Amino acid sequence: MSDGFRPQVSRYTTGARLNHWVTAISLILLAISGLALFHPSLFGLTALFGGGSNTRALHPWIGVVLFFSFLGLFFRFWKLNLWNKDDAKWMANLDSVMKGDEEKVPEIGKYNAGQKMVFWGMSILILALITSGVVIWDQYFYAYTTIDQKRIAVLVHAVCGIGAITIWIVHVYAAIWVRGTISAMTKGTVTAGWAYRHHRKWLREEARNKATPAE
Ligand code: HEM
Repeated sequence: MSDGFRPQVSRYTTGARLNHWVTAISLILLAISGLALFHPSLFGLTALFGGGSNTRALHPWIGVVLFFSFLGLFFRFWKLNLWNKDDAKWMANLDSVMKGDEEKVPEIGKYNAGQKMVFWGMSILILALITSGVVIWDQYFYAYTTIDQKRIAVLVHAVCGIGAITIWIVHVYAAIWVRGTISAMTKGTVTAGWAYRHHRKWLREEARNKATPAE
């Protein structure tokens, strides 16, 4: 497939992209509603969700959507995010990668070490957020835990929420900073040049798997 003079390589199916954007929208709504409930100075943000009570009622349900949506992403991508020895070399040469020189690092598969850390970081934090969230979801689960357990859960929930927002900022910054990445999640394709520069091992595998045998 080609787009003008730029040959394109398919990176995500429509299903994967829908799955990703449902996850992204849920996390943004959770961050806004969560921050609104976190500190009085941000309480004004509850207006976006129809007031304080509605924000308190909606926030956990959006959390349930995020959890199941992320679970979809998890099962799609976990294998591709397994750590290998090339990832350690990529990390050791992070300074040249940041300067735009990726020739010193080994050829990279579908995801680099930074993307893998975002993936596993989000996986752990979302698991901790749903678990601690259920403990403090008083409307349905009040009777199942003690007050002390709820106190710990509130703290864990807030810390993990801040962690997830931080990882999300890193993820979006990296997606914008590495030019040509966003189209992977909007159109589902990247240019062959982008793939050759940043994920050469993946490009070679794709070429090998998709190449039609000569007749
Ligand atoms: C506005 C917000 C977001 C933007 C602009 C964005 C952008 C992107 C882009 C461009 C990619 C493709 C990267 C590539 O193929 O190399 C990607 C992949 C991915 N994104 Fe996002 N994203 C956003 C929010 C989120 C959120 C909130 C999550 C999780 C909670 C998330 C999880 C993922 C995962 C798991 C992948 C696949 C990469 C991997 O498995 O390591 N994204 N995102």
